[in-house]
Amino acid sequence: AVVTFVAHDGGKHEAGLVEGRSLMQIATDNAVPGIDGDCGGETACGTCHVIVDPQWSGEVGLSGANEEEMLAMNPEREPTSRLSCQMVASKAWDGLIVRTPEFQL
Ligand code: FES
Repeated sequence: AVVTFVAHDGGKHEAGLVEGRSLMQIATDNAVPGIDGDCGGETACGTCHVIVDPQWSGEVGLSGANEEEMLAMNPEREPTSRLSCQMVASKAWDGLIVRTPEFQL
């Protein structure tokens, strides 16, 4: 199962989905540019912001209350924005596409 991270400039980075691992961890394991995960997954830094492809947002779900505080500060926030550290990978996400924003906080 594979997830594709699409950078602001259109560059694509694929990474293998590891069930039970967060999407932020998968991104940093694979050195995906634009995902820093500075706080280690504590919803405290916002450097793991991704924008979920709208066709996937139903499967992946929208942001929870604990993510909103960080996302609200981000000018690149979009309706399907998530903090990838709060997204626990599932096998059902094979083919998932997320965009990384132009700037991380
Ligand atoms: Fe810091 Fe997600 S890694 S908010």
